[in-house]
Amino acid sequence: MESYGTLPDGREVGLYTLVNSHGLRAKVTDFGAILVSMETPDRDGTLAPITLGFDTLEGWLKDDCYLGATVGRFGNRVRDGKFTVDGKEYTLATNNTPGGIPCHLHGGVVGFNKRLWDAQPSADGHSVTFTYLSPDGEEGYPGNLTARVTYTLTDDNELIWEAEATTDATTPLNMVHHTYWNLGGDLSTPILDHLLALDADTFLPTDSGLIPTGEKAPVDGTPMNFKEPRVIGERIEADFEPLHLAGGYDHCWVVNGEPGTLRPAARLSHPGSGRVMEVITDQPGIQFYAGNFLPNYRTGLCLETQNFPDAPNQPAFPDSLVRPGETYRHVMVHRFGVE
Ligand code: GLA
Repeated sequence: MESYGTLPDGREVGLYTLVNSHGLRAKVTDFGAILVSMETPDRDGTLAPITLGFDTLEGWLKDDCYLGATVGRFGNRVRDGKFTVDGKEYTLATNNTPGGIPCHLHGGVVGFNKRLWDAQPSADGHSVTFTYLSPDGEEGYPGNLTARVTYTLTDDNELIWEAEATTDATTPLNMVHHTYWNLGGDLSTPILDHLLALDADTFLPTDSGLIPTGEKAPVDGTPMNFKEPRVIGERIEADFEPLHLAGGYDHCWVVNGEPGTLRPAARLSHPGSGRVMEVITDQPGIQFYAGNFLPNYRTGLCLETQNFPDAPNQPAFPDSLVRPGETYRHVMVHRFGVE
């Protein structure tokens, strides 16, 4: 552990470096359980950073794009910032207004990404576990929630982000890892030349406030079809209503196969560098966000495995409630390689 500086209230922030036997390097911090940087080799063996981030802690303190963040309690959007549990309505911050329509986004005003977590590096040096106790009522959510996130860098060139949580009162939960990837290694270049494949036959269309309508729409015959690898820039400006509403790709795809079992969700590759990243998850969905709101427009893309947006308000969506006695689990594997 090295010092990553101090918070305005004086608490010290740590930076942890994970290195594997092939030289891949991940840096994580206990502020926000954030992935600060990830470096992997290109096809010639040259190591380069492939995630968007900041040089210092100050950058992450000010960040409003969730770079590298662990997002919670509920990642993605909740309609009107409201949900009902056991007949009681809860009101959350409406901190996002797509299409001029207020909604709750990514856990609220001070989400998990702005909290200082406890850190516990593993004895073998391959992983770090972050723990955060989110008190009852925090950001409007019920229950004292214990959230845990473990980052592991394996010798199989996998970066694993694993979340689990328990609570003493029923609460919605959708912990999400929000790294922006740019496999080219030049982080100022748009990601439009990357090839993406998604293991998804359907996606979730939204209304103009980017809340899912509840429909699962087939991707066939639309610019949302990534069943085979496609160049991201090829259809991002297509005349297709869901792309107009979101300003590009920013949607949740329904990952094929059974939620709760680990299965492939996405494959991203960059022809110039040869870098490849596969994403494997146990979650129902994957939000592919092309960085349309980034100050440096579309210089990184997110592949966020998660439950469906607005799940707390949509009974047909997978259950998003964690109850006392249950353990929430979310596994996300990033497997790096070259071709
Ligand atoms: C998510 C959302 C986007 C945007 C970013 C944060 O990925 O889907 O619409 O809000 O977070 O900037």
